Amino acid sequence: MGEISYEDRPEDGRGGRVVPMRLQKFLARAGVASRRSSENLMTAGRVRVNGEVVTELGSKVDPLVDTVTVDGREVRLNDAPVTIMLNKPAGVITTMKAQSSKPIVAELVPLEEFPGLYPIGRLDADTTGLLLFSTDGNLGNELLHPSRHVNKTYRAQLDGPLSQGQADALRRGVELSDGPTSPAEVEFVGKSRRDVRITIHEGRYHQVKRMFEAVGRKVRKLHRESFGPLELGDLALGTWRQLSQEEVEALRQASNK
Ligand code: URA
Repeated sequence: MGEISYEDRPEDGRGGRVVPMRLQKFLARAGVASRRSSENLMTAGRVRVNGEVVTELGSKVDPLVDTVTVDGREVRLNDAPVTIMLNKPAGVITTMKAQSSKPIVAELVPLEEFPGLYPIGRLDADTTGLLLFSTDGNLGNELLHPSRHVNKTYRAQLDGPLSQGQADALRRGVELSDGPTSPAEVEFVGKSRRDVRITIHEGRYHQVKRMFEAVGRKVRKLHRESFGPLELGDLALGTWRQLSQEEVEALRQASNK
């Protein structure tokens, strides 16, 4: 087979170039299955490279040269950008580079399959819930630009009951050190006035905590349930799932309003 120099290799759309890689990684990046399940496909003899069954887990393929099939169907590297949502656990810092021994979100997302994933915005270390990542460098700018107002809904547990007056103040918008917030939607969850669902339209630093503080309450627990049209649903804490193209399109639409 002909050699292709590194410089001549096309960009993979994920911050790297298409280079030879382990077969299970190739299958995962092509969206066939997770790496673990791809290994199972290989050991079951369902994967062929250039017509030969390959069961050896260390085998490498060159996506530019080799033909890979699973159950006879050709698989190609899809270089479309990848966007995922993570259900971030508490105690995990939103960063891709470890600065201390504390756990970081980079350890929870599939960087091997999708190098170049970066977080879209951030959640505080003690906040749980929906955090987006993408290999698409533009998506973050589109969704986070201050002129875009994508709704974000949080469930907050407070240090004490929120009065009707405090809730109404949040609904009107409150004054923070970096300017007024736009009106928020606020509803009580169940009978306790300590459990509140709040939807905000900006994404400023510690915004939800500062908003509650502005009306005299402290947030004890914070969980992001949704981002624009996307809901966390029953995604387990600490796990991720890839968004469909329709979901990414719906996000873009929401940010264009
Ligand atoms: N607002 C906050 O105060 N913290 C978060 O993590 C997210 C929104």
